[in-house]
Amino acid sequence: MIHEIKNPIIRHKLAQLRNKNTASKDFRELVEDISMLLTYEVAKNFETQTIEIETPIKSCNVEVLNENNFVVVPILRAGLAMAGGALKILPNASIGHVGLYRDEKTFEPVEYFFKMPPDFAEKILIVVDPMLATGGSASAALQLLKSKGAKKIYFLCIVSAPRGIEKLTADHPDIPIYTAAIDEGLNENCYIVPGLGDAGDRIFATLQ
Ligand code: PRP
Ligand code: URA
Repeated sequence: MIHEIKNPIIRHKLAQLRNKNTASKDFRELVEDISMLLTYEVAKNFETQTIEIETPIKSCNVEVLNENNFVVVPILRAGLAMAGGALKILPNASIGHVGLYRDEKTFEPVEYFFKMPPDFAEKILIVVDPMLATGGSASAALQLLKSKGAKKIYFLCIVSAPRGIEKLTADHPDIPIYTAAIDEGLNENCYIVPGLGDAGDRIFATLQ
């Protein structure tokens, strides 16, 4: 299930993110802000528990989250910039890392790193990657996590293309996708159009 979050603040920040003249420092900050807002939307699905506390006036029932029940999982490299935003909403979440890059010729994902907290399979995973283009990287990352036991996963991206959404929905119909924008499509290099360019290079200032 795809959720495109149509919020004026997200639209405004996305406009700046798409602009080719936006510097890396600002780009990183915008990615973090949008990720925080997407995580806030995802959090509407989370269950709370009722506990009793004492206010200075009287005792009352309040609702709390089990804050240790979450793992934020950036897909390296570009997902790292989103993790900070997710952690602003879920500051006590653990962090896992999945390292994948897209082969420049075949556009197929290549895995190079996998490190998760020991008890992640029983927790709620928030997997983050700014770009969902062909869907190859995200689908492979989610498959990897499922193969190691993950059961409850949300996938968050900033810009997505219809092809990637179709692939992810077909491969992982159980995983909700949250995105800030659904763009027109992909170009001949499988970059999202209009998109925002190469997210990793813009985040880490590694553009040639
Ligand atoms: C980008 C992006 C996604 C992937 C999306 O990563 O961050 O992981 O491409 O493309 P796909 O949907 O067609 O698989 P990239 O391979 O450029 O690696 P990087 O994050 O290390 O720069
Ligand atoms: N990866 C990116 O960083 N940008 C795209 O448009 C597609 C894949």
